[in-house]
Order: sequence, then C-alpha cells, then structure tokens
Amino acid sequence: MIISSDKITISSSRPNRGVSLLSQRLYSLARYHSDHESVWDIGCDHGLLGLSFCHTNHVKVIHLVDPSIKVIKVLEAKVKDSYITIPVKICIQHEFGQRIKLDNEKKIIFIAGMGGKEIELIARHLIPQMHEGDSLVVSPHRNFLALRSFLGSTELGLFDELVIKEDELFYQVICLIKSSHLPKITRFGDKIWKGIDGEEYRQHILRTFSIHQDQASRELVSHLEQLST
Ligand SMILES: C[S@@+](CC[C@H](N)C(=O)[O-])C[C@H]1O[C@@H](n2cnc3c(N)ncnc32)[C@H](O)[C@@H]1O
Repeated sequence: MIISSDKITISSSRPNRGVSLLSQRLYSLARYHSDHESVWDIGCDHGLLGLSFCHTNHVKVIHLVDPSIKVIKVLEAKVKDSYITIPVKICIQHEFGQRIKLDNEKKIIFIAGMGGKEIELIARHLIPQMHEGDSLVVSPHRNFLALRSFLGSTELGLFDELVIKEDELFYQVICLIKSSHLPKITRFGDKIWKGIDGEEYRQHILRTFSIHQDQASRELVSHLEQLST
C-alpha cells in the first residue's frame, strides 16, 4: 500500500529546522544528507528521521516505510491532520524493506533501530537498485559484526563511521556510498575506536564481548586488546 501526500504537520520557514529537533542519534544519521533529492526512511516507526527533511534543500520526496500497520495508521493520521502545504511529497508505504522498489532520484537511504541481520536482509535487496553516488546510512542495534562483514563485500564504499552514546547506549552509525573511489568498510572498524568516545566504546565492547564464546566475538576482543598497545 502506498499513500502519498504533499501535506505534513511539521512546518517551518527555516530550512533544516526539522533536523535540529531530532535526538542526537537520529541527528547523527540525518547529517549525512547533502544534495539527495529522495529520502528513504526504512523501518521509520515514528517517522521523525524522514519527516525532518520536509524543509531541507534539494529534497523532493520522502519515503516512510514500515511493515507495522499500527505505525502506518499513526503516520497516515499525522499526514491527514496536517494543515500546511509544503513542497515535498510524502510517500507512506506499508511494506517490508526487503520488498521495496527504489526510485531513480539521487537518494539517501536510512535503516536504523533494527538488528544487523534484518538490516543486512534489507540492504541485500536495496543495494543492487542503488545508483552511483547514492548513500546508505545504517545504525544497527546489535549484530554489527555480521552486518559490517556483509557491507564490506558489496559495491559500497565507506564514507564515514562513528559511534554515538545516547541514554547510556552506544550506537554505530555507518554511512556508505555506491562508489568505487571509496575504501571498503572493515570488519571491526577503525575511526569508531578513536578519541574519547571511541575509547569508552572500546572498553564497553571489551566488557560485553569478552563473555561471548563464538569465533567472531573472540576475534573482535583480540583486535580491540591490540588497539590499546
Ligand atoms: C525500533 S524502530 C526504529 C525506528 C527508527 N528507524 C529509529 O531508529 O528510531 C524499528 C522499526 O523497524 C520496523 N521494521 C522491522 N522489520 C522491518 C523490515 N524488515 N523492514 C522495514 N521495517 C522493519 C518496525 O516495524 C519498527 O517500526
């Protein structure tokens, strides 16, 4: 089901005001938007991330995708109750990310707040549909090792990666671009372990992963121990 509307409740005469209303975690994803015309918020739930682009330069269409009918009904009501027309088309899709057909605009795709395995499933379906220069921004809540390994095997290059801490939880945020000019994402990460936040994250991962017995976790712990020397 696709519902389109060019009206939405969030309003402002100031470009990017929506982005400034986001939580730190969502803002850290949104900031990778540059000149993309199409925004895909996959697994949008509240829709805050996608809707924050209502007044952003270059953005022509915002796609909000979620398989939960409850989520879709709330978003539909939000759009219907709106009273201000804005120059952006909003498409609400009741669908799984792994069934989406992407558009041909220059796009940025956000997939956040899901496990790495679910994100991989969706990304496997979407990456072949992406064009050169399109961006994919992911932030897995768990299983980041398998996701990173998968992403490193694709046509995407790493644009940036960081770790943010919000409400005592750490989140990896990874921005990739379909480009052969960028390096591949590494399995364990590089920049995310640097600086004060990186060191705090390293200590956190060492504590939590040291109790895991699987091969991948042991290799990560060994890698992180070496980073301290
Ligand atoms: C915890 S919310 C995350 C919301 C938002 N992306 C964020 O990071 O704040 C996860 C959402 O992903 C949706 N979801 C779960 N599996 C999905 C899939 N395969 N494709 C698209 N959305 C999915 C759920 O219905 C839920 O609304």
